[in-house]
Amino acid sequence: MKALIMLVRVCGLISIVLGAMLWAGRETLLGAHIGLGMLIALLVFVLAVMALVKKAVVPGAIGLVLSLLLPVVGFMQLPLTFHTLRMIQVIHVMVGLCIIGLAERLYSAVRVR
Ligand code: HEM
Repeated sequence: MKALIMLVRVCGLISIVLGAMLWAGRETLLGAHIGLGMLIALLVFVLAVMALVKKAVVPGAIGLVLSLLLPVVGFMQLPLTFHTLRMIQVIHVMVGLCIIGLAERLYSAVRVR
């Protein structure tokens, strides 16, 4: 259980750094960024299902929605446009940050109850 949240924390931090470097023009980092993002979505999906099993319905349901939304919104940004900040990019970063925060909430629901 602890391993899941630790992975989300590490991958989340690296995703933010890689995302910023991507935005600045390092397009070779796209694959690594998407791979880590997909892993985060999968981990949060698993945590959300575990939270639902523990009857933490609201965070669990939000977790399911965000874990599906993250890849969809992420891919909607393609093709890459460097140094721009379209609405979809702002939404993407918001969803990314929210899912990392929500993972902590899901972890506490799974651990305590
Ligand atoms: C399946 C998951 C993900 C996919 C498919 C994805 C995809 C992308 C793509 C294609 C870009 C480049 C956009 C552009 O410059 O035109 C990008 C940028 C970025 N991503 Fe992600 N990403 C994912 C997960 C995450 C996560 C979990 C975070 C954590 C907060 C994150 C943070 C960022 C940031 C900060 C940028 C740079 C700002 C921007 O251009 O929007 N991403 N991502």
